Amino acid sequence: MISTEKGLSQLSAIEFLSTWTQQSLEAESRSFPGLMYSNPEIYQLEQRLIFGKSWIYVGHLAQLEGEGAFFTVEVAQQPLIVVRKSGQLKAFFNVCPHRGGPLASGCGHANSLTCQYHAWTFSLDGQLRAAPEMDSAMNFNRADHALTSVAVDTWGPFIFVNLDLHAAPLSVYLGDLPTRFQRYGFSDLVRAHTQDYWVDVNWKICTEITAESYHEPFVHQETWGKLYECTTTTAETNEFYYFQHAPASVSLKELNSDEYIQTLNAQELQCAQMICLFPNLTVVMDPTYCITFLFDPQGGQRTRLRIDWLVPVGVASNPQKLQNLIQFFDDLMKEDLQIMPKIQMGVESQGYRPGRLCPSREMGVHLFQSLVMKYLTAA
Ligand code: FES
Ligand SMILES: [Fe+2]
Repeated sequence: MISTEKGLSQLSAIEFLSTWTQQSLEAESRSFPGLMYSNPEIYQLEQRLIFGKSWIYVGHLAQLEGEGAFFTVEVAQQPLIVVRKSGQLKAFFNVCPHRGGPLASGCGHANSLTCQYHAWTFSLDGQLRAAPEMDSAMNFNRADHALTSVAVDTWGPFIFVNLDLHAAPLSVYLGDLPTRFQRYGFSDLVRAHTQDYWVDVNWKICTEITAESYHEPFVHQETWGKLYECTTTTAETNEFYYFQHAPASVSLKELNSDEYIQTLNAQELQCAQMICLFPNLTVVMDPTYCITFLFDPQGGQRTRLRIDWLVPVGVASNPQKLQNLIQFFDDLMKEDLQIMPKIQMGVESQGYRPGRLCPSREMGVHLFQSLVMKYLTAA
């Protein structure tokens, strides 16, 4: 609970953090106060203590096909580069150890990484190979000027990085996720489409709307609600992820065998499931697709959402079916995009007071808010 001596709207970030204690979901849990979605200090702390210390989803292995494939990304306001070298993934700060120049922009393929400022050149494993005119520098040893590494690992085709070199391995962080969802064969699905969406809200507005089924019958009645049983959706939380299960109300009988994931068991063939992994990956699975959502904070009130459409071969090669699936999630996304800025305005309003959470429907919000506070108060 938090101090009641001051109104929540008057609390500073430090006061809120120092008076916060874990709340029971059933007995007392309330949503975050507005400052958690608008205070610049909170945003900076989240960048440093959450995005700078946990496993952050950054992309799909299809973005790194072939030797020398790379992409750049920012995590916790740090410029990074992820590259494939001899079949292995490497990640470095995209920062030259000479005077901080960038080694790469965007994505592509490279045999080596050459700084855009004075052309120091590095091998794909980060070793300095050439430095123009540095022969005149006494005691200059190329081995002292390697790129700075960042931890990188994968779960199936999903690439994660961690800026904290002392963090527990990704396999520990994921817990039972890889075995629990092994039958979906994520690596065998084709990344058939990807799209970025931008929205002027705090990143937690995005992750929280994803980590609950409470809004689905109301916001998504024209999309999700037509295919799945919103009212009988069940959910559970684990250490770092929220899980949701929705029975399907449509039949798979008319599908060709290459249009759905055949390795699923009978129960999985009858439902949609969703994983929200703290802090920035959501995976929505159905027998005919797997959709990933990447949440990328771009400022206190600006977020990029990347959606990847992963589908069985038979869906990827069927333009009409693929287009229908793209359209379905684009429509669904737009339903959320329409309401999210209004939620941002609402939680910043003087009239907003944190409300009680619904125990059966908002346990994912409770988990994510608890994890945010755990990271922010661990310093
Ligand atoms: S900053 Fe990279 S070569 Fe100078
Ligand atoms: Fe939604």
